[in-house]
Amino acid sequence: MRIGIIGTGHMGGMLARAWTHSGDPQPIHIYNRSLDKARLLYEENPHNIIIEHDLNTLVSSSEAVFLCLKAKDTWDILPNLARSMSQQQYLLTTGSAIPLEQLEEKLPCYVIKLIPSITQYALAGIQLVMFGSRFTPTQQTDMLAWLAAIGTPVVIHEKDIRICSDLTSCGPAFLADWLLRLAKAAKKEGLPATMALYLVQSMAAGVGQLLAQGTWNLEDILAQVAMPGGVTSAGLTVLRAGGDDIFSSLFAATRTRQVAISQTSHNET
Ligand SMILES: NC(=O)c1ccc[n+]([C@@H]2O[C@H](COP(=O)([O-])OP(=O)(O)OC[C@H]3O[C@@H](n4cnc5c(N)ncnc54)[C@H](OP(=O)(O)O)[C@@H]3O)[C@@H](O)[C@H]2O)c1
Repeated sequence: MRIGIIGTGHMGGMLARAWTHSGDPQPIHIYNRSLDKARLLYEENPHNIIIEHDLNTLVSSSEAVFLCLKAKDTWDILPNLARSMSQQQYLLTTGSAIPLEQLEEKLPCYVIKLIPSITQYALAGIQLVMFGSRFTPTQQTDMLAWLAAIGTPVVIHEKDIRICSDLTSCGPAFLADWLLRLAKAAKKEGLPATMALYLVQSMAAGVGQLLAQGTWNLEDILAQVAMPGGVTSAGLTVLRAGGDDIFSSLFAATRTRQVAISQTSHNET
């Protein structure tokens, strides 16, 4: 499938890199508001990236168009996309703020919400997928098989997008923050900072490999390491003392922020 990417910031840049490393032989067409970010991607991979200088050329060069813009910019670009996209093309938007139904009202093409994760840099992790109503079951199957080249696509209900994104897209940052705090605390106990960081990062990479191999799940790891009455269990008692309220508060905070972003972007248009 010929791929076009509109917006080569964090998500668009990652998707361009992931697809160029996926083994897909076709060059990726990219278009970004400011040329600098697009040029960086091109310089990294000149044989597999083609910079387009306007939206219409990008769209006419692509079968599947990834739209990777902030909510406000997505609203702004919709009228141009409505004019340039055809019924046969696919639009995959990485933004969660605009409901699929509203996107379909404005666009003639097949529409998908695709929430990637930074883990696609490693061609791994989850891509959350929500299909618009125009997709047939066969098209859905084909699309999922195609997306699997850069990570595992998982179909979810649009109503679950926030909580699922917290787990798959925000999750790497939540995990990274927790591990960094663990390393900083070890530094306070006298361990050199670089050593603490090295140990924690290598541990996390090892756990990732155990999970990726598929023979261990999180509960297996817990059961294997935390013996009743042992030192790990003593540490876990401290970690668990605050209960699970912190996660409910976390979900509430991301929900509130999402609503604010959606309202701001819509009111500005
Ligand atoms: N970051 C994440 O982890 C993550 C995860 C899942 C989903 N998302 C969603 O993905 C979307 C993009 O997020 P992001 O973090 O990638 O944002 P970002 O880093 O700000 O990238 C947005 C890019 O869009 C470009 N742009 C803006 N208007 C444009 C236009 N009209 N035509 C072409 N390019 C345009 C910007 O260009 P300039 O260089 O001119 O600024 C910028 O490079 C958001 O809706 C976000 O909610 C993000």
